[in-house]
Amino acid sequence: MTQKVGIAGTGAIGKAVAKALLEGIDGLELGAISDLRQNLDIGVPYVDFDVLTESCDLIVECLPPQAVPALTQATFARNKDLTLISSCALLMFPNILENHKQSTSRIYVPSGALTGMDGIKALKELGIKRSKIVSTKPPKGLLGAPHVEKMGIDLMQIRRKERLFAGNALEAAKGFPANANVAATLSLAGIGPEQTDVEVWADPEAFGNTHEVTVEGEFSTIRVQVTNTPDPANPKSSMLAAQSIVATLRDINNSLVVL
Ligand SMILES: NC(=O)c1ccc[n+]([C@@H]2O[C@H](COP(=O)([O-])OP(=O)(O)OC[C@H]3O[C@@H](n4cnc5c(N)ncnc54)[C@H](O)[C@@H]3O)[C@@H](O)[C@H]2O)c1
Repeated sequence: MTQKVGIAGTGAIGKAVAKALLEGIDGLELGAISDLRQNLDIGVPYVDFDVLTESCDLIVECLPPQAVPALTQATFARNKDLTLISSCALLMFPNILENHKQSTSRIYVPSGALTGMDGIKALKELGIKRSKIVSTKPPKGLLGAPHVEKMGIDLMQIRRKERLFAGNALEAAKGFPANANVAATLSLAGIGPEQTDVEVWADPEAFGNTHEVTVEGEFSTIRVQVTNTPDPANPKSSMLAAQSIVATLRDINNSLVVL
């Protein structure tokens, strides 16, 4: 039976997911969309979160983190499954996971702009001693971050690579909600937000958004580096993040799933 997919947020990421669904993903079809702006004319109805979660079987979250609690509330109330790309929201709004306890919804957190979650989850079974992510972005990709504004950092005056933040994933999620999803996802796959170390750097010469992950266990050390060209539709995002949702959607009905 074909499952109906509802996309919440049709910005840079949601649009790419809508395109993939219209091109064809086995067992799934695009049923409805929610966004404040009706910016896609693809013959699919724009509806509110209540209608989206009532009329669709699987919800795809592609919203700013602040809009996520309202969506999860509507989704969990109807016990619908959800892919959630704004993983920062799970750290910023602990009520989301608290409310989830009353629901049978499954939450899929795609790897987003990151990679290597498979090995990190495997290493966790043996015990992780240390987990760290260093994210480096061109300054304009960090515009509007609450940490930048609070510290009075003038991003446009940065002339050489500079560390803007060092802390844990929980603090990073609050200080950089649009940039620290990678840190949040790493912390959820690994040893949790308070134990996951995060650094955020601004580099005016950076070609793209780079994430360097180091996870140490007793028997293995995992080092992963990803460099993503900023998504032209939103320089804070990357095209890999949208395609990680598409890959997750394909896995839902694949008979062979490589994790
Ligand atoms: N996990 C990761 O690695 C990763 C990587 C990149 C981006 N992200 C996150 O993915 C999310 C989406 O990113 P994007 O680049 O598509 O963002 P975007 O700003 O391009 O799109 C967000 C869309 O949500 C809509 N929207 C805002 N508030 C809404 C509301 N209350 N109800 C309905 N629609 C609303 C906006 O109109 C916009 O179309 C962001 O939270 C971003 O931080 C995660």
